[in-house]
Amino acid sequence: MMNSFLTLSDVKEIADFVQGKIVTPPEIAVILGSGLSLITKDVEEAVTITYKEIPGYPQPTVKGHSGEFISGKIGNVPVLFASGRFHYYEGHNIETLTLPIRLFHALGIKNLIITNAAGSVRRSSPPGTLMAISGHMDCTFRDGPNQPEILRNDKYHDPELLKLALDTARRLNVKLTEGVYVWTLGPSFETPAEIRMIREFGGDAVGMSTVPEIQAAGELGLRILGISCLTNYAAGITDKPLTHEEVMETTAEVGKDFTRLVREIITAIGKE
Ligand code: HPA
Repeated sequence: MMNSFLTLSDVKEIADFVQGKIVTPPEIAVILGSGLSLITKDVEEAVTITYKEIPGYPQPTVKGHSGEFISGKIGNVPVLFASGRFHYYEGHNIETLTLPIRLFHALGIKNLIITNAAGSVRRSSPPGTLMAISGHMDCTFRDGPNQPEILRNDKYHDPELLKLALDTARRLNVKLTEGVYVWTLGPSFETPAEIRMIREFGGDAVGMSTVPEIQAAGELGLRILGISCLTNYAAGITDKPLTHEEVMETTAEVGKDFTRLVREIITAIGKE
């Protein structure tokens, strides 16, 4: 199944299976990045659907990604969480990476919050900073050596949701910056030279996911809000070596603020 072609009817079958388990149709889907699943403990009337039990659904392999959907309510707003996502470096094709997005669309979900752990390209944003994504850039160079452009279209970064996120953060006294998320292939962290290039191109955060999801969701007309948890300085910003452990430690530290923020954003979207 890993790289097989997923037809529309495959997506529909998967959607029918998931729909059969969900009690209230979700208004919002939330993709949770590495180590950012704490919020799922707050879900009321929770129904867990593991990726394993969904016929034909791919399996993630990364530590910190458990691989399940949790549907239920946050403050009376019906939500579907995806805990565990797919990465290009795991060998999945774009079709598979974006399957969750096509599933959300097939379920009639209109709003999508995409979260991730990312490296900070700027000294001014230390580990622990939360960043709302206002633009993205594909630095995988899969299509050739040309300088990639930053995409800031409203269809990929909904201005209303961005404002709602910034307002909510201010109200909660949680620091939330704004910036450009850059997708690199992984699975290794970048080199200092790559990070210098990314900074010159205008990137603020660097990670190995999210951009294919944003692109697919934008094409399908979902309203998108992206939030990065900057877990470490990217390579070469300081002398400290990068580790997946640091990523997990930082997400554990800021997990509470992140959870409060996402919770309140969900509630605010529910009141729109
Ligand atoms: N680079 C790429 N992906 C990441 C990083 C990083 O520094 N930190 C967390 N995910």
